[in-house]
Amino acid sequence: MSQTKHPRLTEDALRHGMRHVPAVVTIVTISGSAGPEGITIGSFVSLSLDPPLICFNVNRAASIHDRFAEASRFIIHVLREGQSHLSDRFAIPDLSGEEQFQDVDYELDEHGTPVLSDALVTFYCSRSDIQPGGDHSIVIGTVDRVEEGSPGRPVVYHQRAYHGVGERVAERA
Ligand SMILES: Cc1cc2nc3c(=O)[nH]c(=O)nc-3n(C[C@H](O)[C@H](O)[C@H](O)COP(=O)(O)O)c2cc1C
Repeated sequence: MSQTKHPRLTEDALRHGMRHVPAVVTIVTISGSAGPEGITIGSFVSLSLDPPLICFNVNRAASIHDRFAEASRFIIHVLREGQSHLSDRFAIPDLSGEEQFQDVDYELDEHGTPVLSDALVTFYCSRSDIQPGGDHSIVIGTVDRVEEGSPGRPVVYHQRAYHGVGERVAERA
């Protein structure tokens, strides 16, 4: 608990509040000194159109964290409905890359970075910057290429469970 440092806010209160905020589920893959590996990331967002930047946050305690400083490229896969098992797989602590990719359909791109099969959309990125963000690091990437898969809908993480995208509530004014 960070109650002593932030007396007005408990870590639980923040976690609880953030459960109301849906997150698109992605797997980010790299090929660093440990070889091909990946991590489930729910903090992926667009950052800038010109230049084309995206960002996401990686826990400093995550085993893959330091490899983001080594790998000059990474690939972000937005999961489609039916792929939530991949989110669970790549969120298991302390798996080796080999264990992560066991029975998973993927191939290596020309730089040796794993490309998962059949993602809804895949963003091929070069690392642009890594900035501190509390107990996380903010990884910023330049998008080199976007590959849209077959039509479908993303997996969304909300209230600690996986969902599809719900019904439309209104047209944009
Ligand atoms: C839906 C979902 C979203 C997640 N989003 C993030 C995230 O944005 N950043 C992060 O560092 N970890 C995130 N995690 C946790 C990591 O995927 C993973 O559980 C953690 O790094 C454990 O692996 P390790 O202990 O081997 O590092 C998320 C997990 C899930 C299930």
